[in-house]
Amino acid sequence: MAGPERVGELSLREKVSLTSGATAWTTRSVRGVPSVLLADGPHGLRRPAEGADEFGLSGSLPATCFPPAVALGSSWDADLVRRVGSALGAEARAAGVGVVLGPGINLKRSPLCGRNFEYLSEDPLITGVLGSAMVAGIQSQGVGASLKHFAANNAEHDRFRASSEIDPRTLRELYLRAFHRIITEQQPWTVMAAYNKINGVYATEHPWLLTALLRGEWGFTGLVVSDWGAVDDPVSAIGAGLDLIMPSTGGRSDAVIIDAVERGALVEAAVDRAAGRVLELAERVTAGGAGPAPRFDRASHHALAREAAGKSIVLLRNADDILPLDPNGSESIAVIGELAREPRYQGAGSSMINPTRLDRALGEIVGYAGEDRVTFAQGYRIGPNSGGDLESLRDEATTLAERSDVVIMFLGLPAEEESEGFDRQHLELPAEQTTLLDAVLAVNSRVIVVLSNGGVVRVSGWQHLVPGLIEGWLLGQAGGAALADVLFGAVNPSGRLAETIPFKLSDTPAYLDFPGQFGKINYSEGIFVGYRYFDARDLPVSFPFGHGLSYTTFEYSGARAEQNGDRLRLRVRITNTGQRSGREVVQVYAGLPGSRISRPPRQLIGFTIVELAAGESRQVELIIPRSELAYYHPTQSRWLVEGGRYRIEVGSSSRDIRGMIMVEVSGDEEINQLTPSSSLAEVMAVPAARAALQRLLAHHPMAAMVDDPATLAMIGSMPIRRLASFPGSEITDGQLTELLSRLPRFR
Ligand code: BGC
Repeated sequence: MAGPERVGELSLREKVSLTSGATAWTTRSVRGVPSVLLADGPHGLRRPAEGADEFGLSGSLPATCFPPAVALGSSWDADLVRRVGSALGAEARAAGVGVVLGPGINLKRSPLCGRNFEYLSEDPLITGVLGSAMVAGIQSQGVGASLKHFAANNAEHDRFRASSEIDPRTLRELYLRAFHRIITEQQPWTVMAAYNKINGVYATEHPWLLTALLRGEWGFTGLVVSDWGAVDDPVSAIGAGLDLIMPSTGGRSDAVIIDAVERGALVEAAVDRAAGRVLELAERVTAGGAGPAPRFDRASHHALAREAAGKSIVLLRNADDILPLDPNGSESIAVIGELAREPRYQGAGSSMINPTRLDRALGEIVGYAGEDRVTFAQGYRIGPNSGGDLESLRDEATTLAERSDVVIMFLGLPAEEESEGFDRQHLELPAEQTTLLDAVLAVNSRVIVVLSNGGVVRVSGWQHLVPGLIEGWLLGQAGGAALADVLFGAVNPSGRLAETIPFKLSDTPAYLDFPGQFGKINYSEGIFVGYRYFDARDLPVSFPFGHGLSYTTFEYSGARAEQNGDRLRLRVRITNTGQRSGREVVQVYAGLPGSRISRPPRQLIGFTIVELAAGESRQVELIIPRSELAYYHPTQSRWLVEGGRYRIEVGSSSRDIRGMIMVEVSGDEEINQLTPSSSLAEVMAVPAARAALQRLLAHHPMAAMVDDPATLAMIGSMPIRRLASFPGSEITDGQLTELLSRLPRFR
């Protein structure tokens, strides 16, 4: 019997008991309906170990630590992300976990958000496409995903209370867009409601968010679970559309919900709905877990983690082709920096995985080049286990750099600077590290810097001084090997920035409103987030969105685009003009010069990856739904495509455009209905309305004024209703309403 039908057999107490957890990680079991085990997290499984604290923060069972979202986002590779999701799903299934608490798909509004390492991008299209692939992968294994954190959870500061204050257009076009795509494409088994408020109402208690939008407009059929401890008022939450309060409330939420139903403050149907969804989830998990568990071995998942890390690394700069290094060459290599030996490979908080194994870059570099060529110096202190006297560490490193042919320098953020639960204060690398970099550059100019960081760091002070610069993000357990693969050319880098590296913090869009104050975070930059903002303001950046180099070169030619019904068809020929095979991420952006509404100069509307052997050439075709051009009309509450000549750009990054085509796109009809509150100018702009109004005003004292363009320019913003109140006017509000209601709706 299906979940909702079984609800009829249960008492009120039993039904209510299903609406909150049994423990930190399980749902309640009622009358033989099994409980469901949920576990974090987005880039690997965090199933608490026996004997660990209840929330498992002190220890979890070993699991493959895949690259966190900050890295995977830079792969721009949906197929890869789907395979990672499916491996994660297989590990969950083998561990008896029914729901994986991920992916996290919040947008990177500010580079300071302490949890940016858990999120994919500053752009909603990449986030939606890759998030969708991750959910598809997880759920292909018969376990559910939990799409989080719904919604507008873009800062950690005061995250349990703060209200994200967002206008409807921005909310739809940016912060809800990826959720919409993933929910309609994949129907994740669960969605996790966030801690924060949205425009004053807790996400967990938001009827519009959880019911009108999620279920009504988007057709979500799964279960809504609260983030852990996110429910302030259980009665409002269940009433608004939340189904499961996590973790266990020790029976406290049961008591208040039962009392509310008995008092008539909460309809029992809301409890039935929530309980029915928990039963349904239990059934899904049982059905998903039936049959033989998927087979995998740790070695193959480690290999996948290495492949994923390799495809996520972004080569930012490669002056004089300093990279790749020759594994069979004779150059001596100084590896400098504690992070080469003690990698940072994931962020802190609920997503922290206990890896099955850990590759270290230093050992992997030695593996490629041989012990004779490689020497190491710690250089600086980072992490709890690295000590030493600063000056002697620096001296040792510079001496080594001076007598080596090339230096690979590992720099990055200390773990304690970025975590779930708090935001960063600045974008700077530790001074200890930048001072060391200066000292090394003074004795050897052949320096390759490898960065390890979950949120972007400022590089503008020195980026032009180092010939080689690699953004290594946090790459998961196989990151060390993957970095060596790229350094020595076994992997030709193809990662692209899914977030801009700004020149400085004060250039960033949310600078003046992050992390907010007085309990409110004003998203005053509106739709201008990430590259949308930097391009609109024409600001220089260190490295633009979409940027990433390869060891080969690609040429774009013959770009063409046209509208084909509901789609845009774009074709372009890509040729690998270099010496080795490589992957190019082809990016398509759109803008509408002279648009009636405010828009960024360009926004990403499509992308694809093409793999080409040296010298190979291929025609690439992208079919892009016309709806990618739509904007959200806040007063008409709907998506609209504005008609006009769009500038479609195809390129290798948002600031490396290789082809531009102007495409005439037909617009959606903008249906407007005039009302007595419409302005004189609005009415006069519509020929039928203008004629009708002129007839009505024939004897009005202002008739001549309305007909005179110069006067109309001055009084045009007056609502026509006010005409009725002028002395000598014989028209009434009722007449105006009647007149306007007889007019056809117009474009
Ligand atoms: C986090 C979620 C996580 C949950 C369970 C919360 O603090 O925000 O992302 O899934 O804890 O660990």
